[in-house]
Amino acid sequence: NMEKKPVLYSGIQPTGILTIGNFIGAINNWLKIQEDYFSIYSIVDLHAITVRQDPIEYRSRALSFYAQYIACGLDPEKSILYFQSHVHQHAELTWILNCYSYLGELRRMTQYKEKSKKNADNLNVGLLDYPVLMAADILLYQASVVPVGIDQKQHLELARDIADRFNNIYGQTFTIPEVYLGKQGNKIFSLQDPFAKMSKSDPNPDAAVSIIESPDSIARKFKRAVTDSESVVEYREDKPGISNLLVILSSMTDKSIDTLVNEYHDAGYKKFKEDVAEAVIEKLRPVREDYERLMKDKAYLLNIAGQGASRAAALAERTLAKVKKKIGLIERPSLN
Ligand code: TYM
Repeated sequence: NMEKKPVLYSGIQPTGILTIGNFIGAINNWLKIQEDYFSIYSIVDLHAITVRQDPIEYRSRALSFYAQYIACGLDPEKSILYFQSHVHQHAELTWILNCYSYLGELRRMTQYKEKSKKNADNLNVGLLDYPVLMAADILLYQASVVPVGIDQKQHLELARDIADRFNNIYGQTFTIPEVYLGKQGNKIFSLQDPFAKMSKSDPNPDAAVSIIESPDSIARKFKRAVTDSESVVEYREDKPGISNLLVILSSMTDKSIDTLVNEYHDAGYKKFKEDVAEAVIEKLRPVREDYERLMKDKAYLLNIAGQGASRAAALAERTLAKVKKKIGLIERPSLN
């Protein structure tokens, strides 16, 4: 009966560190709506190899991200938590959807343009094809809602276009997914540059805070956070650093920005930053503790990852078989 609920799908690349940006923009929203949906969450380990990864580091980071999902409160009993590479249907549907996606629309993707500049020495086909794999992720499970940060919105629109194009040719095959953006915090900014997105793989360690970071280190990073030369705490476009901290504090405490501005208007930046750090530390304390406990039992993690993959594959196969039939591929004869 779980499957009668509408399907929610989302994923995260296992690169760099899982940041409070990923937490506020994605995971925290997943937690808020997880009861209303049949939820499927993946570690998209095929997406992240579009950039070169060290195999040994990559393997341990992917498992660490998986443990962080669970430590955040995603429930492997109520939802499906799995590694994308364990379900081969993703790669297979990607090939098929490639034949229904246009070079022009892929070249127009903002993230592709940025990434191709950054990876001029490794401008591989995967970078361009990335959004088609993402479309396959979502469409395989007939997902109706995809909660992401604003940076993924354009990819979602492309997934909708591809689904719609396919449905128009072959009749209803894919559910058209809706993007779900949180009311605030769908773009958290770097603590060192309040105009840049907080990124998992920022080379400056002070720019981003990990969700499993030690309290001391969190406190230090907020203390150093770039703000401005005024002294009033207000939410204004010309105060991007302070506004970003207000959004972070609001997301961690569930107090509105207005309430917080009233509370901290004349408190001074030092006190304000200390309290933001404290709220982040308190919110994430149980996550870090749970994470440390989970990482001591890798056999358990791998076991539930295997179960997640089997359940995901069963659902994915239904859609893939339907797609193959619609486009006229011969059904594979079964041998006795
Ligand atoms: P990724 O791994 O870059 O980020 C994971 C999620 O975190 C959100 N996010 C942020 N939100 C607010 N502020 C920020 N600074 C911030 N940085 C990241 C992202 O929007 C995302 O929701 N292509 C995707 C992963 C993916 C996916 C999918 C997502 C692959 N297949 C299918 C949804 C459905 C990505 O690279 O996210």
